[in-house]
Amino acid sequence: MRKDKPSRTALKVALNTVTLGSKPGMEAILPADIVDATRKLLVASGAAGERTVKWSQSQISVAIYEAFDWMLPGQFEAFAHRKAFCERQVREGIDDGATQILALGAGYDTLGWRLAPEFPGVNFYEIDHPATAHLKARGIESLGRRKNLRLVAEDLGKRKLSDVLKTDKSWDLSAQTIIIAEGLVMYLSPEAVRDLFCQCAAFVGGGSRIAFSYIPAGADGRPDAGRWTGLMLYLQKVAGESWEWSIRPEEIGQFLEETGWTIAHEEGGRALKHGVEFYAVATK
Ligand SMILES: C[S@@+](CC[C@H](N)C(=O)[O-])C[C@H]1O[C@@H](n2cnc3c(N)ncnc32)[C@H](O)[C@@H]1O
Repeated sequence: MRKDKPSRTALKVALNTVTLGSKPGMEAILPADIVDATRKLLVASGAAGERTVKWSQSQISVAIYEAFDWMLPGQFEAFAHRKAFCERQVREGIDDGATQILALGAGYDTLGWRLAPEFPGVNFYEIDHPATAHLKARGIESLGRRKNLRLVAEDLGKRKLSDVLKTDKSWDLSAQTIIIAEGLVMYLSPEAVRDLFCQCAAFVGGGSRIAFSYIPAGADGRPDAGRWTGLMLYLQKVAGESWEWSIRPEEIGQFLEETGWTIAHEEGGRALKHGVEFYAVATK
């Protein structure tokens, strides 16, 4: 992806979240306060202007997103489900005794900023490319810093997660940790994804979880986004954030075993899917 510019896809997820706040019924799915916090973060960081954010809140924006659902059915609302899924994993994990939360490729997600004051005994960490992380840090600075939230600016394609964490004295290798990789792994190479999962397993204590979303691979081995896959792959490439990694859902359990994790099946044993992405959780 383009290393020097703030992530466009992170901005898209954040604006989409703001628009979902204007869609009737979404308040039952979206985490409380997420829309307001995202709106404020985008403006305070300079990632989006007031007018863009206001436009995103309009019913015209809702209508436009809905009109484009023909291309990726369910993808507009999927971001609400994805945010809710990640927040549920973090809250359940903290209830179970987790004291570290690590969001990889956090973008303009506000989970850490919103939850840090509620859980002062938990340390929240976020890692993203410098171009995105610096912009976000500016926004967080203006909204109000959290003493238990650290933003780390690193390119995980260039520097190993283990090296990044090793240099942070506050990181506790034995702590029960919840790792969130929301909308990230599709942008990394197959080697980088495998390596990342192995490193995650090596740098957290027992009882930890990793929650992530991924694009399923189709019969041809390419990411499968439905009927318009070819167009989607092209658009992602043009945006400078190509989809590099996907996996067949029936192979995810084995992939996780090989990288130090055990898949946790959702109640009912069905894989969770919204829009083009599957959501999965694994434990150590
Ligand atoms: C689709 S966005 C998702 C953002 C956030 N997780 C969310 O769902 O709101 C993907 C994020 O991954 C980050 N990312 C992609 N490749 C990365 C890398 N090699 N190192 C660090 N961050 C990366 C991007 O900068 C971007 O913020």
